[in-house]
Amino acid sequence: MSTQKRIEDMKARSAKIMAAGGPKRVEKQHASGKLTARERIEKLLDPGTFVELDRFVAHRCTNFGMDKKELPGEGVVTGYGTVDGRLVYVFAQDFTVEGGSLGEMHAAKIVKVQRLAMKMGAPCVGLNDSGGARIQEAVDALAGYGKIFYENTCASGVIPQISAIMGPSAGGAVYSPALTDFIYMVKKTSMMFITGPQVIKSVTAEEVTSEELGGAMTHNTVSGVAHFAAENDEDCLQQIRHLLSFLPSNNMEEAPVYECTDDPNRMDPELVTLMPDNPNMPYDMKEVIARCVDNGEFYEVHAHYAQNIITCFARFGGQSVGIIANQPKVMAGCLDVNASDKSARFIRFCDAFNIPVVNFVDVPGFLPGTNQEYGGIIRHGAKMLYAYSEATVPKITVITRKAYGGSYLAMCSQDLGADQVFAWPSAEIAVMGPAGAANIIFKNDPNQQEKTDKYVEDFATPYKAAERGFVDIVIEPQETRPRIITALNMLASKREVRPAKKHGNIPL
Ligand code: HXC
Repeated sequence: MSTQKRIEDMKARSAKIMAAGGPKRVEKQHASGKLTARERIEKLLDPGTFVELDRFVAHRCTNFGMDKKELPGEGVVTGYGTVDGRLVYVFAQDFTVEGGSLGEMHAAKIVKVQRLAMKMGAPCVGLNDSGGARIQEAVDALAGYGKIFYENTCASGVIPQISAIMGPSAGGAVYSPALTDFIYMVKKTSMMFITGPQVIKSVTAEEVTSEELGGAMTHNTVSGVAHFAAENDEDCLQQIRHLLSFLPSNNMEEAPVYECTDDPNRMDPELVTLMPDNPNMPYDMKEVIARCVDNGEFYEVHAHYAQNIITCFARFGGQSVGIIANQPKVMAGCLDVNASDKSARFIRFCDAFNIPVVNFVDVPGFLPGTNQEYGGIIRHGAKMLYAYSEATVPKITVITRKAYGGSYLAMCSQDLGADQVFAWPSAEIAVMGPAGAANIIFKNDPNQQEKTDKYVEDFATPYKAAERGFVDIVIEPQETRPRIITALNMLASKREVRPAKKHGNIPL
């Protein structure tokens, strides 16, 4: 065969694979509101940068007539490209090919990009849309999942791993996304569950729809399995690009610093009036955050879950930071089981990837009640103490109002390693709520009310803590932004070395 003919043959083979499951299945994919695997990759990466790998990989299953079945691209498109000019690896399961089901060679393609991403120190993004293990391939498919889980785990804390659920994700297949750092789910078209509605009905007689069981908002609001909800495929892919802009490519790099278009010395007098005079009145901590960060922009992680605590990425003077903040508007900002899990995981992500953490504290305590105690608030709350103590990235704490008892420590007090602690004059740093404390120590005192008032006046302030040096500087609210930026600049050369160990044992 002449070289020209060979080229034509190669093009014909390629075209067949590029056609994926054929026009009918592509049409069905579009009709259900979903983009195809290749369209998704094009929208995720910078235009024209995608380099495909393993286009010609084929399955080698002979069971159930599979030897006569061609599966273009093995039902997954893999390769690399750039996002904002930085290298990113990607795989996108192709639902138009045998439902995106995962067989031995489909898995091998994914494992290859996972390994390349590790070697090159670049993020790996998985776009999931699959009916799960390819039934015909039986244990070979299971082995494929096992290898992917193994690579997910090896890569954890080394490169950012991001999963988007853009269709079904059922059975054990959910565990690869669960092992990654962040999960996006697309509203209406995505679902995740270990066992589907039919199996549930047959085993427990419980009736539930797929959407209620494992839809995007179920996992964003109830289970906390998903971190982000997207309106549609395009929104999901744009959000992933946005997330990547806050992250370094790997754990050896510093988080990216962008040109800052917002004055680092900008004061905000509105912060003074934002705080209600009555300490029991709520205010919106998101407004505090917006008024302090560059251009008022922050990107919330787990925005719909455990809303009594806020976790988000933002920038100060162009520098990426992770923010953890109590939300007085929701459950008075108490810490509970879900808030502890949400924030501990976020802190550990930031620490693994050299992203400084900034904490805004207004916390009256851990949520009381049997519900919380039986749910293991001791174990879950300990995760926050562990995560903050373990973190060696720059840690800055701003106490805006309440900081009581164990929850004061759990929000990164100086003793847990905060490098710089600021308190607003409205801060109340105390062993417990001052009125409650006075009720205990002056219980039998004839002048109880008078003494309680005096106690509140003396102890519901930042000054007892400042006298001991637990607060570095009492600041005016309006100067919070410049203070944080100055502290971040001071902490840029921070070095903190811990004893070598295999790994710690976080209370899971
Ligand atoms: C082989 C599969 C498949 C699978 C779908 N297909 N899932 N082929 N193995 N797991 C095929 C279908 O036969 C069909 O082929 C095509 O993909 C499209 O599927 P449809 O059913 O027509 O699509 P839809 O109606 O949209 O339904 C999608 C679906 C459904 C809800 C995902 O296909 C489904 O329930 N699939 C099985 C899901 C499941 O039980 N997975 C668990 C597998 S065990 P044709 O040729 O007809 O177009 C598992 C364990 C993993 O995953 C453990 C890891 C540790």
